[in-house]
Amino acid sequence: MGGFSDRALAIQPTGVRKMFDLAGDDVISFGLGEPDFQPPKVAIEAFHQAMVDGHNKYTTTAGLPALRDKIAQSWDAYLQGMTEENVCITMSGTNALLNIFLTLVNPGHNVLLPEPYFPLYGPDVSICGGEDRYYPCKFDNEFIPQISDLESLIDENTVAILYNFPSNPTGGTLDLHQRDELLDFAKKHDLWIISDEVYDRIVFENEHVSFMGTGYDKVLVVNSFSKTFAMTGWRIGYIISDNLEAMKQIIKMQYYITACSNDAMQYAVLAAMEHAADYPDIIAKEFQQRCDLIVDRLNAMPGVECHKPKGAIYVFPKVKVEGMNSEEIALELLKDGVLCSPGSAFGPSGEGHLRFAYTISKEDIMLGMDKVEKSLRRLNG
Ligand SMILES: Cc1ncc(COP(=O)(O)O)c(C=O)c1O
Repeated sequence: MGGFSDRALAIQPTGVRKMFDLAGDDVISFGLGEPDFQPPKVAIEAFHQAMVDGHNKYTTTAGLPALRDKIAQSWDAYLQGMTEENVCITMSGTNALLNIFLTLVNPGHNVLLPEPYFPLYGPDVSICGGEDRYYPCKFDNEFIPQISDLESLIDENTVAILYNFPSNPTGGTLDLHQRDELLDFAKKHDLWIISDEVYDRIVFENEHVSFMGTGYDKVLVVNSFSKTFAMTGWRIGYIISDNLEAMKQIIKMQYYITACSNDAMQYAVLAAMEHAADYPDIIAKEFQQRCDLIVDRLNAMPGVECHKPKGAIYVFPKVKVEGMNSEEIALELLKDGVLCSPGSAFGPSGEGHLRFAYTISKEDIMLGMDKVEKSLRRLNG
């Protein structure tokens, strides 16, 4: 009699949801990793218009050529000359990640993943029969991996390394020197680089540093419009690479995952790129102000140490309360009306941290921080 596959039984529900399930409606929530904005109006109108115009059918597997071309051009600052052939539209970054692991990983292979992590990476690798191996991104190193840690993990079955900058959950970003060290490590061991750059447009101070355009031909970049245009619910992203053989394999795989992406939505995203090109910068500015605010508040609290991130939508402070782990602290904060995620939900080195997503208004951030401060003063007694 049929049961369930080993792969289904082996994966666990994500720990990030646990706090949500316990939270009432009246909490101030720093839990959600999604922008609290709506997509640009021009995109919503174009979505509707595309449906009226009859764009309600299958598209080619890799997506609308005009959108793929537009995306390729949007990478000109990193690498000129890419075209639609270099891009596969996916139904989200989540879909893009699974596609890449399915395309690269055989049973017995292992993939190096960051830790603390975006919780999908490890289960994705396991689903493909591979082993998820974690390299630490430590607070003391501003969440940047150290080459000695990477070297200690590698063996002949290591096929790829995933980098995620700006990072969820740490907010860590790379400078060019750090990028080049991580690039050289991958080159030395002939590894694929899977670069999850879904927060590339939410950066503060400096330009985004990408693995695209480095001259290494084993780079696959994952991106998404979820954060860029605040359209998490639309589920649209893409994979881009200058390795055309890899793109051929990826596009072939995509057919068996979703056949293609949503027809009308691709016109909507194209409209956003053409007519709301400044939208990502506008929301990034708002996120930067919120980031400054929340970091200043956290660093003034007892037992809290917080780096100021240069990108993404999260802070990942160290929070110390004698005799309590991060889940227990998060539960105490929840009792006092604030939802955040315990660092341990993002892997063992997240222990001792909390993740706050600053995806709420500045006023709510202030109110929430008042509550956190009060709780921590009480707990640190
Ligand atoms: C680092 C990272 N990668 C990928 C994703 C997936 O984004 P989506 O599936 O909404 O495109 C997320 C979403 O939170 C993320 O934080």
